[in-house]
Amino acid sequence: MKYLIILSLIIGLSCSERTLLEDYVFDDNDISVVKHEILSSTVNQGYTLHKLNLTSLKWFNELLTNRPIWWHHVYVSVPDNLDSTRPIFYYIDDGRNNETESPSETAKLLSEFSTKCKCITVIQRQIPNQPIIFTADPKSKLRIEDDIIASTFGLFFFNRTLFPNNTYNNVPLLFPMTKAVKRGFDETVKFLKSKNVNFTEKFVVSGASKRGWTSWLITAVDQRVIATMPIVFDLLNWQKNLHIQFKSLGGGYTYATYDYFLVGLTAKLDTKEIREILKLVDPLFYLEKYSGRKFLLFSATEDQFFLPENTKAWWQDLSIQTNNQIYIKRLANVDHYLNQQSKLQIVSDIKVFMDLMHKETSSTRTLPILKWYFENNILFGATRIKLSNLGEFDSYTVTSYSAKTKDKTKIDFRVNYLLDKSFVDSNISWIEAPLIQSKKSDLAAVNEHVYRKLRILSIFNYVGFYLDVNLKLKDSNETLSISTDLNIIPEYYPIGDCYNEECLGKLV
Ligand SMILES: *[C@@H]1O[C@H](CO)[C@@H](O)[C@H](O)[C@H]1NC(C)=O
Ligand SMILES: *[C@@H]1O[C@H](CO)[C@@H](O)[C@H](O)[C@H]1NC(C)=O
Ligand SMILES: *[C@@H]1O[C@H](CO)[C@@H](O)[C@H](O)[C@H]1NC(C)=O
Ligand SMILES: *[C@@H]1O[C@H](CO)[C@@H](O)[C@H](O)[C@H]1NC(C)=O
Ligand SMILES: *[C@@H]1O[C@H](CO)[C@@H](O)[C@H](O)[C@H]1NC(C)=O
Ligand SMILES: *[C@@H]1O[C@H](CO)[C@@H](O)[C@H](O)[C@H]1NC(C)=O
Ligand SMILES: *[C@@H]1O[C@H](CO)[C@@H](O)[C@H](O)[C@H]1NC(C)=O
Repeated sequence: MKYLIILSLIIGLSCSERTLLEDYVFDDNDISVVKHEILSSTVNQGYTLHKLNLTSLKWFNELLTNRPIWWHHVYVSVPDNLDSTRPIFYYIDDGRNNETESPSETAKLLSEFSTKCKCITVIQRQIPNQPIIFTADPKSKLRIEDDIIASTFGLFFFNRTLFPNNTYNNVPLLFPMTKAVKRGFDETVKFLKSKNVNFTEKFVVSGASKRGWTSWLITAVDQRVIATMPIVFDLLNWQKNLHIQFKSLGGGYTYATYDYFLVGLTAKLDTKEIREILKLVDPLFYLEKYSGRKFLLFSATEDQFFLPENTKAWWQDLSIQTNNQIYIKRLANVDHYLNQQSKLQIVSDIKVFMDLMHKETSSTRTLPILKWYFENNILFGATRIKLSNLGEFDSYTVTSYSAKTKDKTKIDFRVNYLLDKSFVDSNISWIEAPLIQSKKSDLAAVNEHVYRKLRILSIFNYVGFYLDVNLKLKDSNETLSISTDLNIIPEYYPIGDCYNEECLGKLV
């Protein structure tokens, strides 16, 4: 009897841990379509680049879209100086299926990166497959990107009866996007084995925007992912964050959420359907799955999709879950689309982060620990930081960045906004000010370094500020650059919260 109880406990536990996303990603009903074909192999200075056509999955059938079978251009770069004990750097990229492929600038940058990280790099393009046409769409519109995702949200909200046996759960596009990456991992492994490459089957996964979103979700289902580096995607805890956005933007949402607004996401913000869809696609619902992983996020201070305050609604939770193995680097004065300089900064941060991870052993932690505390009151705001575990570094600098909003009507740091159907440049500028420059002896002498940055409240604007810590590695000129959360003062919002239908709001 006792054993029976224990047994049923074990079974009960393991059942409850399996998510609908896992059910979908590991369902091999469509396995017969999965394959890869080598399109070319070219030898370059320092690395060999293989271009594959990888067919990843079948998502429903022709009754839903004109493109149920997904395929991708995949670039696998194997460097001459490969260290076979290093993980594979796997980048999820966008791209179109209806045009002749030439590698994106990002693909080129990351293929060359393989020689720097001494690791295999993979770029999987066409996530999602696009453009697609929904079969039932009378206009046969060619849809891409958010337009597709939002359409699948619409089907989930309004047309469930079209999908028998709960298969409507597999409709949100993030499901096939995530599965395509899992199949991409599998086929990459098969390909490398067929080429007799000696490698380690572990992945560091990254991607920008909705590909960053996908990188969170693949991490929740695939144990082979050891670190996740989402670029310009920090929207976790959607429901809470959309409420915050409503209050921050004076009763509206950023115009960049247009497709989601149109399909009724904000009108439904306080409904049960939102909870149901977010349980599938909001990474925060997979919190428990993130134990033991490392995260390095990149976010843009002037992003028109994601407000820099997004992180506040979930950072603490993830930080606890990962035992402080989560980091963010804020890129000042760039928007969602980044620029060349910020892309180089990202690659250089990833390189140093991966090197530090590689040096870690079961008993020594090599990554630094950065903690921050906001100490705000009615006169000023202050951010206090504590920096420790600096054994790999010989010096550091701390720099503060701050910006003011246009006025007190919105907490808005976006590069531009919508006013009477036209875009207005906001001219926000993040101002850099050095705070600390450490001496070598500082690091040897103390374990914990504490600093405080103070900003006086302004009557006319909101002030946002954060600190950047640049840590220089020992015996090298490379630095790891990481940031704190954004402190915004005063702490109250321009308007109160919405309830139910009021949450519809408008695009601003
Ligand atoms: C890739 O393979 C698919 C079949 O799965 C095919 O339809 C597609 O045309 C191929 N693309 C290229 C560029 O070869
Ligand atoms: C590919 O699809 C896009 C729609 O996203 C369209 O603008 C473009 O003209 C198409 N290209 C070709 C070669 O058909
Ligand atoms: C989904 O439902 C809406 C509203 O009932 C309807 O207008 C639309 O045609 C349906 N879409 C599909 C694909 O059946
Ligand atoms: C739904 O599931 C049941 C039981 O697995 C199966 O018999 C039935 O054919 C399914 N219906 C559809 C439309 O797939
Ligand atoms: C693969 O690399 C590891 C680590 O460098 C090494 O121990 C192992 O012998 C290699 N395996 C083969 C088949 O070369
Ligand atoms: C930003 O600067 C431009 C050019 O000086 C000006 O036309 C525009 O009104 C400014 N925007 C705001 C929000 O002040
Ligand atoms: C660091 O940079 C300086 C000046 O650019 C150079 O002299 C030095 O050799 C570099 N050190 C290393 C370890 O790369």
